[in-house]
Amino acid sequence: MLHTLTLLRQLKAHEFTSGEAIARQLNISRSAVSGALTRSGDYGVELERRHGVGYKLTQSLEWLDHDQISRQLNPHTPFTLQLTDEIDSTNRALRQNNAAPGTVLAAEWQNAGRGRLGRQWVGSLGGSLLFSLVWRFSGGMTRLAGLSLAVGIALTRALENKGYAGMGLKWPNDVLCAKGKLAGILIELSGDALGPADAVIGIGLNLRLSDDERLNADHAADLSDCPGPAPDRNALLAAILNELADILPRFDQDGFAPLRPEWEARHLWQGEQARLISPDGKENRGRIIGVAEDGALRMAGEDGLKIVYAGDVSLRRENAS
Ligand code: BTN
Repeated sequence: MLHTLTLLRQLKAHEFTSGEAIARQLNISRSAVSGALTRSGDYGVELERRHGVGYKLTQSLEWLDHDQISRQLNPHTPFTLQLTDEIDSTNRALRQNNAAPGTVLAAEWQNAGRGRLGRQWVGSLGGSLLFSLVWRFSGGMTRLAGLSLAVGIALTRALENKGYAGMGLKWPNDVLCAKGKLAGILIELSGDALGPADAVIGIGLNLRLSDDERLNADHAADLSDCPGPAPDRNALLAAILNELADILPRFDQDGFAPLRPEWEARHLWQGEQARLISPDGKENRGRIIGVAEDGALRMAGEDGLKIVYAGDVSLRRENAS
């Protein structure tokens, strides 16, 4: 079936494109064009249709571009980049295909994007970065407790280098801006406790959310909430990959300890009263006093210091819903 995104790529925001021209270009019928474009609403894209004239986007879409991204990667960056229009989940695809270390898969659209704790992750066509990569760690899974924190640092470094301000981190793996969630990280591990382990590191970053997407996502933020330039998706993806290529080998070699001061300096809930919620609904209250050398959360509770590993717990600010 003709993919709606293939057709949306033919459209512009500043002028109409005729259905006939698209049909000719793609060697398909005009009814196939109109059929596929009726599904553009499924991707959150609004079109203007004018009878006898054609179709126009109400807002321009910036597509991922392999050359543009590759050109902005630092020399010798150990990544093999794959782009796809639509997929269920980039994390799932890399895991299922046993993708080699260094593979990066970025999608324009995920129809079953996954978040932490079994939640879904919804992106915006042309307004998100949705990608995953495989990295092999020599030290085994037991040394990876702080990995999502290291990835959070890489994300904030990349955004700052691109001129954005006001971002910070929330344990274990959220990047926040203006109190909303700007980016999430989903890490899935396979391998041995002590031997080499592969991590699929999935990242979802909101560049521009529509009003509907903001309403549907709980406490979401996008880059318009962080003072900075108009986002360039390809440049941002390259900048994040460059930071990851720098931090991941260091993390593999030295662990989280050398990154801990930077993480705590970027930590937005340092010293805050918070509730820790376990999968069985059990709650623990306390003051967040930082993170340990392996990335575990340190919380001063009623019964003393509590050391918490990410697992399936979620963290809420006290008095917040
Ligand atoms: C979270 O819940 O905070 C983690 C969100 C991670 C979303 C990204 S989008 C790319 C990759 N593919 C997925 O299905 N999930 C991750």
